[in-house]
Amino acid sequence: MKPQNPPRTYRVKSFGCQMNVYDGERMAELLAERGITPAAEGDEADLVVLNTCHIREKAAEKVYSDIGRLVKAGEEAGRKPMIAVAGCVAQAEGEEIMARAPAVSMVVGPQAYHRLPEMLDRAARGERSTDTDMPAIAKFDALPKRRRRAPNAFLTVQEGCDKFCTYCVVPYTRGAEISRPFHDLGEEARRLVDAGAMEITLLGQNVNAWRGEDDRGRAVGLAGLIRALAKIDGLERIRYTTSHPNDMEDDLIAAHGEVGKLMPYLHLPVQAGSDRVLKAMNRQHTADSYLKLLERFREARPDIALSGDFIVGFPGETEAEFDETLALVDAVRYAHAFSFKYSPRPGTPAATMADQLPREVMDERLQRLQARLNRDQLAFNEASVGGTCTVLVERKGKHPGQWLGKSPWLQSVWFEGAAQIGDIVSVELAEAGPNSMRGLLRETALA
Ligand code: 5AD
Ligand code: SF4
Repeated sequence: MKPQNPPRTYRVKSFGCQMNVYDGERMAELLAERGITPAAEGDEADLVVLNTCHIREKAAEKVYSDIGRLVKAGEEAGRKPMIAVAGCVAQAEGEEIMARAPAVSMVVGPQAYHRLPEMLDRAARGERSTDTDMPAIAKFDALPKRRRRAPNAFLTVQEGCDKFCTYCVVPYTRGAEISRPFHDLGEEARRLVDAGAMEITLLGQNVNAWRGEDDRGRAVGLAGLIRALAKIDGLERIRYTTSHPNDMEDDLIAAHGEVGKLMPYLHLPVQAGSDRVLKAMNRQHTADSYLKLLERFREARPDIALSGDFIVGFPGETEAEFDETLALVDAVRYAHAFSFKYSPRPGTPAATMADQLPREVMDERLQRLQARLNRDQLAFNEASVGGTCTVLVERKGKHPGQWLGKSPWLQSVWFEGAAQIGDIVSVELAEAGPNSMRGLLRETALA
């Protein structure tokens, strides 16, 4: 590769989960420290970071077509963008990307992106580099201090997964479970709040597996961390995602009834309603144990909004087994949910299981499942009409004078009136739609 001009502008394109969004922000901060600025809307960037996701479907193919598009746009404009591939596809298929895509200067895995600056120097000298090491915690120590200005911020507290669900690539791309130290998290949270964050969402692939030692050396779990963060003045709302049913400690359930800043929302994936399928997925819980767990959350916090993830068409799933997923949905009545067709991931045990289901079967089951989930989401929104709640204002709405924010139950709420981004206001929920609520401003700037 020829030496490349050091980039002056960048664009980070993040795909997939919220942790990728967090990683994308951190990479942007690293680049900003080097004096590289975000490319203006519509402009070509000198450096493009594709922060990829490997969880489902043809992820790698998408990366190659994105690279092709960037190269072509560059050629048309008579320039050559510097391209970095980051994220989970980089981790899983780094070598292949380097071999197949000569336009790529850098391949960097999710645990190694703190070394992007050195890789940029090498790219400027015309050297291509790959870094898919997994030094885990080292990354966080090497990243610049947070200085993001937004009312809601993500904070990665735990990374990696030891569960090895048979369909999932995460244990391979993100590595083993690690918890960031309690003290570091307190500091990063405080800095985020100083920079304007009112709400922090604690992130982890299995966030409720977070373990640490508090400032007095006592062993604490996620609930202990949440209780400590709740003491930060100016931080008004705390959320966490994603949890695994088997790592749920009693204190986290209790915290939902006791910590006012902890929002009444729980995202707890179940994936399927049939015990045979759950076993084949290596989920290590049953439908019944999951339902009982949710009941305990509802006892601690009766208004809690429940959310889940589902996979339809896991290898060998029969019609009767799929019906058990529908029955579980009927039993829970989720406020929100994500549902996916099973997608065989190279290298995972399920990818080579017998009886992979035809696409049409998966399509049809997904439609039926989503119809129920949509029904329940609308019902949840309709049931909140007439109530008054706080809304954290996140951005302007489509029309002048309109604002958009989130209710405690993570519903999108829009309203008109005197407000600004970052306000927490009191809003009466006046009308329910499937994906958002119309509100009436009752009190401005509570916090
Ligand atoms: N196919 C389909 N969905 C998957 N998920 C994870 N792996 C796969 C796969 N191979 C879904 C699960 C998980 C969510 C993040 O993505 O529902 O909870
Ligand atoms: Fe994947 Fe299962 Fe780990 Fe979640 S718990 S990241 S689905 S292996």
